[in-house]
Amino acid sequence: GQESGIDEAGLQRLVDRFYARVREDAELGPIFNDAIANWPEHLEKLTAFWSSVMLTSGRYKGQPVPAHMKHVGRITPELFDRWLDLWNETTTELMSPEAAAALQAKAARIAESLQLALFFKLDP
Ligand code: HEM
Repeated sequence: GQESGIDEAGLQRLVDRFYARVREDAELGPIFNDAIANWPEHLEKLTAFWSSVMLTSGRYKGQPVPAHMKHVGRITPELFDRWLDLWNETTTELMSPEAAAALQAKAARIAESLQLALFFKLDP
C-alpha cells in the first residue's frame, strides 16, 4: 500500500517485487536468470544493498562494479533505461510518494556511475 515508508520490511518487499518483474521482462529477464543461481540469496543481498544506501545500515558488503563487469557483453545502456523504468514503476506502486522519489533519485545516480564504470573508455 501507499503507506509503506523506507524501513527494512518495506525494502525487502520492494526488492522482491522489483526482481519478480525483472525476471519476467523480455530483455532483462534472461540476463538475470542466467546469472543468478540462488534467488533467495540475491534478494537478501539486494535488500542489504538498499538498506545500506537508504538507511546507512552498512549491511551490504560487496562490489557492484566487478559484479556487473562480468556481464558487460550483455548489459547495454538501453537496458539501464529499462531497469530504471521498472524500478520507477515498482517504487511508485509500493512506496509513499516521498519514499518513491528518494529511491528513484538514488537508483538513477547509481545507474549513472555504474554505466560510467562499465562503458566509459578513453581512446588511446
Ligand atoms: C548484481 C544485472 C543495474 C545493483 C547483478 C547481477 C546481475 C545484474 C546479472 C549478478 C552479478 C553476478 O553475481 O553474476 C544488472 C543489469 C542492470 C543492473 C542487467 C541494468 C541494465 C543495477 C543497478 C543497481 C544494481 C542500477 C543499483 C542501483 C546490483 C547489486 C548487485 C547486482 C548491488 C550485487 C553485487 C554483488 O554481488 O555484491 N546485477 N544490474 N544493478 N546489481 Fe545489478
